[in-house]
Amino acid sequence: MTRITRAYTNIALIKYWGKKDQQLKLPQTNSLSLTLDKFYTDTTAKVIDSDKDIISLNDTILDDKASGRTRKYLDTVRNMYGLAQHFQIESVNHVPISAGFASSASGFAALAGSINECLDLGLTRKELSILARNGSGSASRSIFGGFVEWHAGHSNETSFSEPIDEDPDIDLVLLSVVISEQKKSISSTIGMELSVKTSPFYPNWSTLVASEIQEIKQAIAQKDITKIGEIAEHNALSMHALTLSAQPPFTYFAPETVEIIQAVKHLRQQGVFAYVTIDAGPNVKIICNNNSVNHVNDYITQHIKNVSTFEAHIGKGIQYI
Ligand code: PMV
Repeated sequence: MTRITRAYTNIALIKYWGKKDQQLKLPQTNSLSLTLDKFYTDTTAKVIDSDKDIISLNDTILDDKASGRTRKYLDTVRNMYGLAQHFQIESVNHVPISAGFASSASGFAALAGSINECLDLGLTRKELSILARNGSGSASRSIFGGFVEWHAGHSNETSFSEPIDEDPDIDLVLLSVVISEQKKSISSTIGMELSVKTSPFYPNWSTLVASEIQEIKQAIAQKDITKIGEIAEHNALSMHALTLSAQPPFTYFAPETVEIIQAVKHLRQQGVFAYVTIDAGPNVKIICNNNSVNHVNDYITQHIKNVSTFEAHIGKGIQYI
């Protein structure tokens, strides 16, 4: 009986922003994330007697266009392991589009795990992380729980994630603030490429990430949540400075994104524990603790129009059910 593979989404505290190898999805720098407990993907893979993969998402079989990225990924997996089999993939996404998280991290981590499970490949979690990275960079981190570091590496074998602390006893809560008027945005792949090629600040980004990773790891070890918040916020805003300084310049921010950044700063000035982090979209994730999260939630929903919020805690690595 093939078990279901469940993988959770993660939020980067030190962002991955730029590839040095498009094909292998090798990042320019290391990155560091926190796996969350709320949003996940459940996937099962079955070998089928066919020369074409069948892919379904949320009980609907996807056509070639909708499943293009997954099909390409399955070809990569067959190449990597010298496999000839085709698969029936059934995925159920528990990452509501409205929650403001991309499902690619949990999706490709669960898919990598399900192939390992169905073929009994016996891959280690490091190998699973490599396999997941080939689908989506951030997926390599969702193999593990808690705080995770993705080592940039310089080849397929050397670019993988590793846990820093899978079950940290630390008071952090993530509040995802979703702006309802979603603007059509630039994909992270295109955004990264433009930033690497044209932002005059890109060389500084690599230097900054190297030092912020060291600092945040120290703060994690010392359970210094203020330091974690400060570094994560600075890192996220520095990543967005790369988009504004690209040629042509672009931004993922909507007007409400800036309003929320300012609201969080205001809350902080009043002694409330709150810091922002933002991915390749307009939504803002607020790093809170158990003491501040309700107050932050009330303040944001009262002061910013048309937003919804989701609370998440620290989550686990991939599970077989
Ligand atoms: O893995 P991708 O291609 O979806 O890129 C993720 C990029 C960011 O979310 C902005 C940062 C990160 O490290 O997750």
